[in-house]
Amino acid sequence: MKEKIFLTRTLHDFAIKELKKNFQVEIHKGKIPIPQSTLKSKIKNVDGLICFPYDKIDKKIIETAENLKVISTYSVGYDHIDTQFAKEKKIRVGYTPEVLTDATADLAFGLLIDSLRRISEGDRLIRKGKWKQIYGAYDYVGLDLQEKTLGIIGLGRIGKALAKRAKAFNMKIIYHNRKQITKGQERKLGVKYATFDKLITQSDIISIHVPHTKETNGMFNMKIFKKMKNDSFLINTSRGKVVNEKDLTLALKQKTIAGAGLDVFEIEPIRKNHPFIKLENIVLAPHVGSSTKETRGKMAEITVKNLILGINGKKPIYSIGY
Ligand code: DGY
Repeated sequence: MKEKIFLTRTLHDFAIKELKKNFQVEIHKGKIPIPQSTLKSKIKNVDGLICFPYDKIDKKIIETAENLKVISTYSVGYDHIDTQFAKEKKIRVGYTPEVLTDATADLAFGLLIDSLRRISEGDRLIRKGKWKQIYGAYDYVGLDLQEKTLGIIGLGRIGKALAKRAKAFNMKIIYHNRKQITKGQERKLGVKYATFDKLITQSDIISIHVPHTKETNGMFNMKIFKKMKNDSFLINTSRGKVVNEKDLTLALKQKTIAGAGLDVFEIEPIRKNHPFIKLENIVLAPHVGSSTKETRGKMAEITVKNLILGINGKKPIYSIGY
């Protein structure tokens, strides 16, 4: 008898085909994200679960599962999964780093360019029929990227890929990380280590690349915004909860900082009347860091491979904990 697997939403056709060759497959077709009550009833007898960042795979859900061997998430982030409890239950957890590094760094750099050169703001202006005469000394000017200091918080895979892009644009790059990389690596990447405080006070643009944990929750708040330069920008493609949105709204309104470019939010999708919507000095993206055709395909491949390995009692290619 084939093992049973459950997907909280569908994946690419090639991935579903591969899964169906090996397993009895059920795909959730209703409301997205799947309601906890539905997930609870579905997970009871399955051997493997494929989930997505908006699903909440907490202790209660994991406890309900009687046969679960593996949770394979279609994401690099795994803050939606109680990985500690999964480990205690000897359930493997697979995730999809590496393949989405470039796509996410591209998006972070895109938000950076958009924020400094006001591309989205200009698009809105044209669509609203407000493009009158622009070319004057002070009309609608943006800022150069070259010579600006980019501060990267978290120099993991994505942080490093962002540094490569910034180097090509002649930016000065400083970083803060739990662990300093070697001097040789710093030279190669063109980056310099800075304390958190130095990075916050000296950067023209800060880009966040840390996971959401108890320690990073609300890490960027008014206290930090007040230390940042008045003409600086904040870019976030990591997790929304790393930034205190109420404080950021105020900081952007009061021009404590100049602008922000965000791909992630405390609660997604953001509401229609979210205060960010009314602000001109913020660029908003709907959590699309990894969302390219090529990258999403590679993520699906790994998600399937991780699941197959886990069901067979092996460690997924990319695995957390057990
Ligand atoms: C991830 O994979 O965790 C990303 O946030 C999804 O775009």
